[in-house]
Amino acid sequence: MDERKVRKIIMFPLPFPGHFNPMIQLARIFHHRGFPVTILHTSFNSPNPSHYPLFAFRTIPHNNEGGEDPLTQPEASSMDLVAFIRLLRQTYAETFRQSLAAEVGGGETMCCLVSDAVWARNTEVAAEKVGVRRVVLITSGVASFCAFAAFPLLRDKHYLPIQDSRLDELVTEFPPLKVKDLPVMETNEPEELYRVVNDMVKGAESSSGLIWNTFEDLERLSLMDFRSKFQVPIFPIGPFHKHSENLLPMIKNKEDHVTTDWLNKQDPKSVVYVSFGSLANIEEKEFLEIAWGLRNSERPFLWVVRPGLVRGTEWLEALPSGFVENIGQKGKFVKWVNQLEVLAHSAVGAFWTHCGWNSTLESICEGVPMICTPCFTDQFVNARYIVDVWRIGIELERTTMDRKEIEKVLRSVVIKEGDLIREMCLKLKERATVCLSIDGSSSIYLDTLVNHVLSFDP
Ligand code: UDX
Repeated sequence: MDERKVRKIIMFPLPFPGHFNPMIQLARIFHHRGFPVTILHTSFNSPNPSHYPLFAFRTIPHNNEGGEDPLTQPEASSMDLVAFIRLLRQTYAETFRQSLAAEVGGGETMCCLVSDAVWARNTEVAAEKVGVRRVVLITSGVASFCAFAAFPLLRDKHYLPIQDSRLDELVTEFPPLKVKDLPVMETNEPEELYRVVNDMVKGAESSSGLIWNTFEDLERLSLMDFRSKFQVPIFPIGPFHKHSENLLPMIKNKEDHVTTDWLNKQDPKSVVYVSFGSLANIEEKEFLEIAWGLRNSERPFLWVVRPGLVRGTEWLEALPSGFVENIGQKGKFVKWVNQLEVLAHSAVGAFWTHCGWNSTLESICEGVPMICTPCFTDQFVNARYIVDVWRIGIELERTTMDRKEIEKVLRSVVIKEGDLIREMCLKLKERATVCLSIDGSSSIYLDTLVNHVLSFDP
């Protein structure tokens, strides 16, 4: 029997779609290469295992045995993301250690643990204790990771904390980033943000390898920069979702069919698809400016208004009465879509995005130009690269946008800058395809990664 068939890979994703999706895509890649995969998942946001029949699932309980989950209490829902991640890491530190020990003691031969980068420090000691090698999945890009890793330097040089008077200044150590592009977020616990970032960087550095959902032609210079500073082996094998084993027929629910029917009725490349990912939220005032800007642009739009996106509201109730009815078939509001399918639809002409790394890659793979409104951390870095380096999108800054500017930008994606941007999009889409071809860089790195993890002592 092939040696790898009996060497299990354990995966530990962070329980948010932007982290869980790439981990599951990676799980399929490993499974396709013959590795049995077990997913250790927090009881918080636990997925339905029946949707992922290829893998074994184990739920890690929270630390409040017999009591309520600390993460679903009212105090937790009012926390900012940094505080919430602190609580998440505390809640599962000990129970993760126990669950990992139970898995390792279960009699099967282990290959390695693949941990999300945000868990990296939590998992370091636990994996060492049970004698399992640890590889880290980084779900953001290389450029942003390099900026995270430079936080101590950026603090020494007083770029951080960010001062309003310096927002447009170039960070000379990290061109093309400006001070306003540094990957921070608003929080009541700034020191905790530095701690999370520091733990992520140190936990990645001390691992046996980093798996990156990126590709060489996209981030060549950032990869060189990373290699010049870190010794840890790296495997840029992305875009994960375009590996052949991830090209499964999509499971569609009723809502997905309704969305596809609506898209089918739109002209080619006419629709603005709007989504700000799974975590960002906006104020009611911003929501209304976006709604009016979309309406006034007279472009068809498909807008994911996730419950919880607009602070203090359930869903669309902040819109003036009659607004949705007046829009009619010209625009569509949904709570969630199958984004991969939407971006691949020929009616979609632009993606107004918060520039989360998955959304960025997914848009690149379909050659869709982006309108960039980053909200926090790595999204600012991604937006700068989209606009100034890859030149596949335009900027629409959250801090200054109003309905007039939104209308102007939405119209311009087609009329003015549109052509040049679209050309660059097609070129980059082609580069992604080349990297995934049989002797492309991502395929070669994947072979190297498989050999690397198989070289770990069982
Ligand atoms: C966050 C960060 O922004 C990101 O940069 C980081 O690397 C991971 O965590 P998120 O803000 O949710 O993630 O954005 P993004 O990275 O774009 O991930 C969202 C995922 O949800 C994408 O895979 C997207 O396809 C999916 N999605 C989003 C849907 O399937 N349907 C939707 O309606 C919206």
